[in-house]
Parts: sequence; C-alpha cells; structure tokens
Amino acid sequence: MQIISNWVLTNPDLTMYYINIEDKPIVQRFLDDQRNALDRIEFFYPYMGDELQEVILGGNFVGVFDKDELIATIALDKDKQYASQIASIVSRCTRGAISPQYIYEMSGVMVHPRYRGQGLAKELVAYIQSIAKQQDCHYICAVVQLDNVASIKTMLSRGFCLAGVYAMGGEYDFGYFVYCTDSPIVTDAPTTCVAGRDMQGHLSMLSQGYVGTQIRSSGIDYSPILSK
Ligand SMILES: CC(C)(COP(=O)(O)OP(=O)(O)OC[C@H]1O[C@@H](n2cnc3c(N)ncnc32)[C@H](O)[C@@H]1OP(=O)(O)O)[C@@H](O)C(=O)NCCC(=O)NCCS
Repeated sequence: MQIISNWVLTNPDLTMYYINIEDKPIVQRFLDDQRNALDRIEFFYPYMGDELQEVILGGNFVGVFDKDELIATIALDKDKQYASQIASIVSRCTRGAISPQYIYEMSGVMVHPRYRGQGLAKELVAYIQSIAKQQDCHYICAVVQLDNVASIKTMLSRGFCLAGVYAMGGEYDFGYFVYCTDSPIVTDAPTTCVAGRDMQGHLSMLSQGYVGTQIRSSGIDYSPILSK
C-alpha cells in the first residue's frame, strides 16, 4: 500500500493509502462485512465479478486505516466503457443538457459505523474530486440508491447534482449524482420537489432542464440549469 501524504484528514488517528491488488482480500472482507451489517443492504451495490480487482488495478482505490484496521473506502473507477454508459444515461435523462463523452464513477463509498457522522465521507469525496481533476476526468458521478439519505446528503453537500435516474426494478432505483471538475453546474434557486422514488417525476424534471440540488424529508428539490 502506498501512503497518501498530501491530503490531511480531520481525525489525526486516520491514514489514507492507495490499495494494491495484494490487499484486495482485506477490502473485499471489509465491504462484505459492512454491507451485510446495513439495515438496507441495497444502499451499497456490491462489486460484481472482477470489478473490484479492475478498480484496484486502475490505481485509484483509497483505503482509510485507523492503525491496522481498515475503516473506510472510496475509489475513482477510470473504466472508459462504463464511463461512456453513465454519460449516455445522463445525456438521455437531461435531453443533452449534460452530455460529456465520459462520466467516471466514484465507487466503493463506505465508512465503518463507528466513524460515521464525523464528516469523513465528505473529506474522502473531496479527495476523489481533486484527483479526478488532476487526472483530467472532467465529470464524475456517484450512483446512489434514491432512499439513501446519508449518501445523497454527502454528494449534494460536495457540489454534485442529481442529473440522471435509472430503475433497476425491486428496491434498486438509482440516482446519478454528477460533478463537473472544471466548473460547477450552475443552477438557479430550487422550484419543485419530487418524492424520492417518483421515477417519472425525476425524469420529467430532468428532461425539462432541471437537476436535483437539495434533499428534504419530502424528496429532492429541483433547480433549473443556468449554464452547462
Ligand atoms: C453514506 C456514508 C458513506 C456517509 O458517511 P459519513 O462519514 O457518515 O458522512 P459525513 O459525516 O461526511 O456526512 C455527510 C453528510 O451526510 C449527512 N448524514 C450522515 N449520516 C446521515 C444519516 N444517517 N442520516 C441523514 N444524514 C446523514 C451529514 O449530516 C452530512 O450532511 P451535511 O453536510 O448536509 O450536514 C455512510 O453512511 C455509509 O458508509 N453508509 C453505508 C454505505 C453506503 O450507503 N455507501 C454509499 C453508497 S452510494
């Protein structure tokens, strides 16, 4: 593992590392254990097949350790084929208002329960935003289950906006929270609230040039995009 020394976390006991492929079993165990412990396991969509290996080999898989214990993860997935699929979903939902060639996924966002609610996820997202910019990833995205309030709040407070939705069926209704690393997506004040699971409502707002910018108990507030 390679220590990340150019990024300081608020909690002085924690250290960030880039995960190597030899460390994959530790990460897999952490993600499996933490996902199984969730009240809503659908909030964390697991890596399938070789995906975890591929993201680690991509070089941007970050693990946070408290001494020897892995307590949080986050990654930037540079797979271009997947990035192109996400971009086409967002472009279709927004009718071309947001239509880059690639939108890279920020994945593996998991914080151990003991360390939640202390701002750690926001600090890790900020790190991924900074390395995405350095690596010329102009757009990044978090794919979040639309009931996952903690994750949605994390993304919105880091400047992401809801720019796409996709219903996989069952419990899995996903929102695509997008961030542009060059310049923020500029929006006007919010006008309309759409209930979290109202997929038709989300599609309707997105297709009219709005993006989701705030969350409240009744749903997601939509604001008109002012410029690309
Ligand atoms: C989502 C998750 C990563 C957030 O991590 P965290 O370190 O606790 O988040 P932070 O402390 O940085 O808080 C980020 C924001 O979420 C809010 N938040 C955190 N936990 C919350 C909760 N349980 N309910 C409501 N809001 C919550 C915080 O108030 C903050 O919002 P604000 O900036 O508007 O005040 C963590 O809850 C987690 O690991 N969940 C399980 C896995 C998961 O859902 N991953 C995301 C997959 S897309």
